[in-house]
Amino acid sequence: MTGVHWRHARAGDGPLLEAFACAKPNVRQGQRRVPPEPWATEVQSYLRAKALGETAARRAEHDQRLILVFDDDSLVAVVAHQDAGYEEAPTRILIAGAVALARRGGTLSDGRSAFHAALVCLLEDVQQASISGPVLALGWVHPGNRRCLRAMARLGWAAVPTDDGLLEVRGRLL
Ligand SMILES: CC(C)(COP(=O)(O)OP(=O)(O)OC[C@H]1O[C@@H](n2cnc3c(N)ncnc32)[C@H](O)[C@@H]1OP(=O)(O)O)[C@@H](O)C(=O)NCCC(=O)NCCS
Repeated sequence: MTGVHWRHARAGDGPLLEAFACAKPNVRQGQRRVPPEPWATEVQSYLRAKALGETAARRAEHDQRLILVFDDDSLVAVVAHQDAGYEEAPTRILIAGAVALARRGGTLSDGRSAFHAALVCLLEDVQQASISGPVLALGWVHPGNRRCLRAMARLGWAAVPTDDGLLEVRGRLL
């Protein structure tokens, strides 16, 4: 048993990411099948189909990184982040982050929640990138995504509405 650990995604991780599930199955509304959390479906599609290629393409220019968090052999969380390019205040943009559906709200083998474990792995990654001084985090969350907003509010991160209907979330990462 190795407990919770992480590594950067690599070229052969396509099948692992294609099997990653963070979205609840569709529910039936009359004739239609509607996802109960559309944002989770969007994040899942990105992580399954795009994250690996986009991270490789944006590695050099934007320092994009894709973190895979494991609990023993299970992939329990995935986080993609990149440099915002602000010289005055080093800032990491949170491109996408998700906890595996089966582990959401749950506890991992070392007693931490999956969300907390993903955050610690993100911090370790930022520290390894040798970014010195305070580091800020910046992301955009759908206002209906109460779970994500609650988790970020617990970190003391502020959420401000934007013109495109999302909430911009900002806070201190490091
Ligand atoms: C956002 C996400 C990473 C948070 O992970 P998580 O494991 O749910 O996080 P937590 O266990 O810390 O829970 C966060 C909050 O939701 C609540 N919660 C967790 N699981 C729950 C459940 N099954 N039912 C009701 N509430 C739940 C927790 O109680 C907590 O609320 P609190 O702060 O009031 O106690 C995860 O829900 C996820 O992957 N969602 C799908 C993808 C997504 O939305 N990504 C973010 C895009 S911006």
